[in-house]
Amino acid sequence: MFDTMTVTKAGGALCGAFLVFLLGKWAADSLYNTSPVAHAGEEVTQAYSIDTGSDASSAGAEAPAEGPAFADLLASADAAAGEKVFGKCKACHKIDGTNSTGPHLDGVVNRAVASVDGFSYSDGMKAHGGNWDPEALQTFLTNPKGVVPGTKMGFAGLPKPEDRANLVKYLESLGG
Ligand code: HEC
Repeated sequence: MFDTMTVTKAGGALCGAFLVFLLGKWAADSLYNTSPVAHAGEEVTQAYSIDTGSDASSAGAEAPAEGPAFADLLASADAAAGEKVFGKCKACHKIDGTNSTGPHLDGVVNRAVASVDGFSYSDGMKAHGGNWDPEALQTFLTNPKGVVPGTKMGFAGLPKPEDRANLVKYLESLGG
């Protein structure tokens, strides 16, 4: 009743089905590894672990949220963008060698603090000392009244480090 061909076909179909089943299992295993057994010496890492705060690395001092160093920002700063930022200073500062509400700012980078002849500086500014090197400038411009107590400069500050870097780059490009 069964000829050889029929038996062969049935056998082939069975083998084929089993092969598909094995392949499917293998694929599923590689996607979802549910085995809880770690290999010898290996630690089982949880996919999702809850931080209980007891970990030594998470306790203790937190690194201050500091951006890149100002020198790095300045190295890649854009003087043209800084010229736009300088729009905020123009109301009080000229760059043609004459003073207005504030002292002129041409050549201000590395200029001695409170050194423009004929400008009447506040006592706070006179007490600051030093030169307006890029670091001193950017510190002052972050928070003028905080850095130079009693300053006459009525300006809130530039909170964005990029703005300060671009501005200092622009000021550097102005001759003295
Ligand atoms: C509302 C007016 C005003 C604005 C706006 C202003 N400044 Fe000033 N700035 C002053 C005055 C006034 C002084 C003198 C401060 C003092 O003697 O305490 C000064 C002083 C300075 C000094 C010190 C100069 C020196 O000779 O020692 C720098 C640098 C400076 N300003 C930069 C800037 C920059 C850059 C901006 C824009 C981001 C700006 N200022 C915006 C009024 C202003």
